Amino acid sequence: MSLKTIEWKENKVVMIDQTKLPNELVYVEFTDYNEVANAIKTLVVRGAPAIGVSGAFGLALAALQSKAKTKDELLDDLEKAKKILFETRPTAMNLGWGLEKIMKVARKGNDVSEIKESVINTAKQMAEEDVQTNMSMGKHGSELFENNDNIMTHCNAGALATVAYGTALGVIRATKASGKKIKVIATETRPVQQGSRLTAFELKHDGIDVNLIPDTAVGYTMANGLVNKVIVGADRILRTGHLFNKIGTYQIASMAKQHGIPFYVAAPLSTFDLKSNPDDVIIEQRKASEVTTIGGKRTAPEDIEVINPAFDMTPPELITGIITEVGVAKPPYEESIKKLFTANK
Ligand code: MRU
Repeated sequence: MSLKTIEWKENKVVMIDQTKLPNELVYVEFTDYNEVANAIKTLVVRGAPAIGVSGAFGLALAALQSKAKTKDELLDDLEKAKKILFETRPTAMNLGWGLEKIMKVARKGNDVSEIKESVINTAKQMAEEDVQTNMSMGKHGSELFENNDNIMTHCNAGALATVAYGTALGVIRATKASGKKIKVIATETRPVQQGSRLTAFELKHDGIDVNLIPDTAVGYTMANGLVNKVIVGADRILRTGHLFNKIGTYQIASMAKQHGIPFYVAAPLSTFDLKSNPDDVIIEQRKASEVTTIGGKRTAPEDIEVINPAFDMTPPELITGIITEVGVAKPPYEESIKKLFTANK
């Protein structure tokens, strides 16, 4: 089995501290939802599905922490915690999805002890379901990949971005498990380096063949026949198929189109936002120091103005297929995405 990124253990939230990877594999434990919020904000835990489950576990801690005597008081405490957890990161759909799923269960409960129990059980169940979802996604996705494929991936959409197994890397794991020989090309993913620190680490940890490239070598590797398919994860997918994912995804998709290389996305249904239009989506802007320093050392002049968006939008015409736990959506996406949802109501 792959690494386990986040877990509920004896009324505590246990997670891998991803800021320490790849040099140290360290687990941190939290008993306060404010610590979970801080962990999401500071990228101790990251990746859309992982922060969805972290939000749910955060609310489970908030329920345990609450001294409420009545249902209304407890719901008030949970709403306060939800707001703090929700405001940590704006782009990934799964965070709001996870929080709302828990709140729905809480609102249905009759009394304080029943709500506390159901909130904790639901959060634990969501974590278990995340792994099952990724494995189903892997099964559907693996059929799109062939023996000897060289597959590029960007950022980390692996076990470390989910509870375990991963979305894009889950498809890669399932392809390998089906007996096909594959090689992964992982982009470094500046400025936070989820590709070199996390994807390269987790694939090596699991014995999957991987080459690391600087982000600037995407064009070179495609032009020189070193890549024949791309697969990435998603932070949010709209009903039209517009994809929001790690900054740089749009460049890779455009370059793949230029070279006739299929570009796939793997994401659970919980990443889909069927209501928003592209302009409604908030792109998280991160601090300048991520760009002006490397390993704590300054690599840009003092006082330089920096633009540091964490995500970008890839239009649907650049996407070959979207792999979910219930099947693969192909263009035209408005129709195929609707079908996936109506067939699974
Ligand atoms: O800023 P991050 O590391 O949270 O960004 C993560 C990504 O962009 C992933 O590709 C996305 O969340 C999908 S993870 C299965």
